[in-house]
Amino acid sequence: MKEQLIKDFKNIYGDGEVRSFFAPGRVNLIGEHTDYNGGNVFPCALSFGTYGVVRPREDSKVRFYSKNFESLGIIEVDLKSNIYDEKDGWANYPKGVIKKFEESGNEIKKGFDLLIFGNIPNGAGLSSSASVELLMSVILKGLYNFDISMVDMVKLSQKAENEFVGVNCGIMDQFAIGMGKKDCAILLDCNTLEYRYAPVELEDSSIVIINTNKRRGLADSKYNERRTECEDGLKELQVKLKIKSLGELTNEEFEENKKLISSQVVRKRVKHAVYENQRTLLAVEKLNNGDIKGFGELMNESHVSLRDDYEVTGIELDTMVALAWEEAGIIGARMTGAGFGGCTVNIVKNENIDTFIENIGIKYKEKIGVKADFYIAKIGHGARELS
Ligand code: GLA
Repeated sequence: MKEQLIKDFKNIYGDGEVRSFFAPGRVNLIGEHTDYNGGNVFPCALSFGTYGVVRPREDSKVRFYSKNFESLGIIEVDLKSNIYDEKDGWANYPKGVIKKFEESGNEIKKGFDLLIFGNIPNGAGLSSSASVELLMSVILKGLYNFDISMVDMVKLSQKAENEFVGVNCGIMDQFAIGMGKKDCAILLDCNTLEYRYAPVELEDSSIVIINTNKRRGLADSKYNERRTECEDGLKELQVKLKIKSLGELTNEEFEENKKLISSQVVRKRVKHAVYENQRTLLAVEKLNNGDIKGFGELMNESHVSLRDDYEVTGIELDTMVALAWEEAGIIGARMTGAGFGGCTVNIVKNENIDTFIENIGIKYKEKIGVKADFYIAKIGHGARELS
């Protein structure tokens, strides 16, 4: 992959020295829509992601080229006038990261030429955009020798997405992609950013990701709506409870105080945020104790809660998960990421994977009329320079 991209780079920008970098995609195993509610998440970095080949320039120009969006050609930006521009498409993500580096005191005087290629399915909820952000971060650190930690690059990348691109995401995706570790998931407390790695040892089973091939579409506006609903619920609870976020509540405390929340809909949203957070802690405990079946059952509960209480699934995701639940060898299945479309994450016994893929492929096509894509996930390291 790397060699091919270096060739492509030289075809576009000409011969000379280059450096190569990589940032993964991520899949969240459990803990959905909890990050911006101050709760816990349990994602891992994937072995597929975004590759970047780069060469510094002597002037203040930055040139971007993506092999995933070849019709956009080379997108050229001057560091002195780096502002959001809709027509720059995907390049607004790395542009935002450059801006946030500069705003935090990391001065960038000279530009670079960059070629990227990602093998993360686009818009599938596996964080192709956060992958590009962290790719840009490790490139900037590498080219200009900035003294900046990975956690700070994670925070700047999230800031770029929130403030430059205007998507109000939490910190889970950037954290998983920056801090990922091979064969481990990360239990991250989004309130404190304390984290620990948990080996994902699934004995005779594997993680299978299924893309519904329904693009997220409406997701961004609904995503912000859910955030607001949770903030409204929190405010009503704060009339009596001394809490800063929903992540501080136990299930029992929620049940005792839920009457403080006037809207039934908001009550359901808050219930999901609280229960999902507790479910995540329990799930990690089960995995650590080798109880994979118990972990899978909590994945299933997570999906039901996202479907009925948080209402971020939809016909494609619900059909895909229901089909998985019917199959032999299924340990657990749920939607992953923001929802409304994108992917499901499944734990499946190795001996059943072939028939699992075959049966679901046929049945999903019959019911929804769209072909699904299947990936057997490998958990890889976080964003880095390639040697
Ligand atoms: C998107 C956001 C994350 C997180 C998930 C839902 O992926 O980028 O911050 O909120 O949705 O868990």
